[in-house]
Order: sequence, then C-alpha cells, then structure tokens
Amino acid sequence: MTQTPKILLAALRALALALPAFAANATPSDAIEPRVAACIACHGREGAASAAAYFPRLAGKPAGYLFNQLVSFRDGRRFNSDMVHLVQHMSDDYLREIAGYFAALDLPYPRVSERTDASAATLSLGRTLVQQGDAARGIPACVQCHGAALTGVQPAVPALVGLPRLYLASQLGAWLTDDRHALPPDCMAQVGRKLTTADINAVASWLALQPVPADARPAAALTQPSPLPCSAMAN
Ligand code: HEC
Ligand code: HEC
Repeated sequence: MTQTPKILLAALRALALALPAFAANATPSDAIEPRVAACIACHGREGAASAAAYFPRLAGKPAGYLFNQLVSFRDGRRFNSDMVHLVQHMSDDYLREIAGYFAALDLPYPRVSERTDASAATLSLGRTLVQQGDAARGIPACVQCHGAALTGVQPAVPALVGLPRLYLASQLGAWLTDDRHALPPDCMAQVGRKLTTADINAVASWLALQPVPADARPAAALTQPSPLPCSAMAN
C-alpha cells in the first residue's frame, strides 16, 4: 500500500483524537457520530478526494456489503492491519449499525479527474472483460453481478465505479494471491483467480476512468440470475 506520509499522519492524528470516544462508547445504543469519526479520518465522508487516493469510499454502499467486509476483517477473511485492529472486538450488532450508518449516507461523489497511461489496447481489454467477460476462460462479465451501471446491487454487491485505480488493482491482486475471502460460496474469489495481472491492470485502468453516474445508488436487485452462486446474494 502506498500513501503520501502526510495524508497518513493526518489520518492517524485524527484517529488518535477520535479513538477514545470510539472505544469507550462500544454499545449499539450510543450516538453514532463519535464512533464513526475515526472511520471518516481515513475514508473521508464522501470518499476519495484525489485520483491518487487509496481509501475506499463507504458512503452509500449496500449495507450488507459493508457489514460483510467489517465482519471479514474481524474474522480473518480480509486483511488490513488498521481495519483489523479497529473492528477486532466489535459485535455483529455494533458492526451492523455502523454499516447501516454509512449505507444511508447519500452524498455526491467528489469530482476526481483520472488520467491514465494505459494503452488503447489495454483499455479495450478492460472494457471487454467488464461488459462481456471472456467465455473461453470462464470469466463472466462483471456487469452480470455488479449491475449494468456498475453501481452495485443490493444487498451485498459493491459498485465498481468511484473506486481509486490503486485500490481496485490491490483488491483484484488479493484474489489472485488468495488473500481476500468471503463466506462460501465465494463467487468473487472464483472470478478473481481467473484474472491475470494483465487483466487486472486492464480492468482497473478502464474502471477508474468511468464517470460515476448521476444516480449512483446500487440497483435494487439483479436483473438476471447470478452466473455463479454467491454467499453475498443469499438472504
Ligand atoms: C487508519 C485508516 C483507517 C481507519 C481509521 C478506518 N479504515 Fe476502513 N479501511 C482502511 C483501508 C486502508 C482499507 C482498504 C483495506 C484493503 O486494502 O483491503 C479499508 C477498508 C474498509 C472497508 C472495505 C471497503 C470496501 O469497499 O470493500 C470498510 C467497510 C471499512 N474500511 C470500514 C471502516 C469503518 C466502519 C471504520 C471505522 C470503524 C474504518 N473503516 C476505519 C483504512 C482505515
Ligand atoms: C458472480 C458474481 C460476480 C461477478 C461475475 C463479478 N463479481 Fe466482483 N464481486 C462480487 C461480490 C459478491 C463481491 C463482494 C465480495 C465480498 O463480499 O468480499 C465482489 C467484489 C468485487 C470488488 C471489491 C470492491 C470493493 O469495494 O472492495 C471488486 C474490485 C470486484 N468485485 C471486481 C470485479 C470485476 C473486475 C469483475 C469482472 C471481471 C467482477 N468483479 C465480477 C460478485 C461478482
């Protein structure tokens, strides 16, 4: 993970200020604002403010998705030392409440001007994989699960637009190296393991250039059956 130390220091300072309130008030009935101050120090209220950012946006993501990720950090299916440290002692109820808070935030996406040094051929491969997949290699189109507008699908499939390129590439790399998991059946891990590093570069480069649509809310439901069974889609 690469970051400018200045941003990290500012985040850690804010975290140190917010953390005592956060830890001391660990019951679901307490006011939520002090609890999420620590989160906002890193993630921002609206998410990425620059194209070079790494922290993923939380606002407006499907509640089930956010909850699953928090539980995954806590239970060792997903790794990031800061995140694991923050959530390790939190109950399901507490995490569900935090997930609900961020899911309900309806904020515009910041304008991020992305530039790319990817070639036209790379961008074209990225677009093809996202929109059509690669049947010969058993890779379903990303839009089949992430929604035609790529804004995610309720209750637990995340958007692929509005994420920094670096973050996208890092997550896709984590499936390739078997470092990110969901509860089984883990459909995204199955898809992720089939992508080569060239595919990852292509997909992340193309996705990061896509504008976030005016209506960035996740779709209410899949319009066609999922190409693979997913724990994220079972109720
Ligand atoms: C010190 C910085 C930091 C703090 C504080 C922090 N996060 Fe994170 N968070 C990260 C990073 C970095 C990632 C990406 C981890 C990865 O590479 O998988 C992340 C990832 C996440 C994700 C997964 C997002 C996605 O799109 O999959 C969720 C959900 C999340 N954080 C929620 C929270 C919540 C809730 C809090 C407050 C309790 C919080 N974070 C506090 C740094 C932080
Ligand atoms: C069969 C359904 C399915 C298909 C097809 C699929 N995904 Fe996913 N994807 C998911 C699910 C479910 C998750 C949430 C995984 C979790 O909870 O950890 C996810 C998560 C992700 C994330 C993490 C986002 C974040 O905020 O951390 C990325 C990136 C991603 N998918 C990229 C892709 C790309 C690129 C493709 C196409 C090559 C693709 N997905 C195809 C179901 C799918």
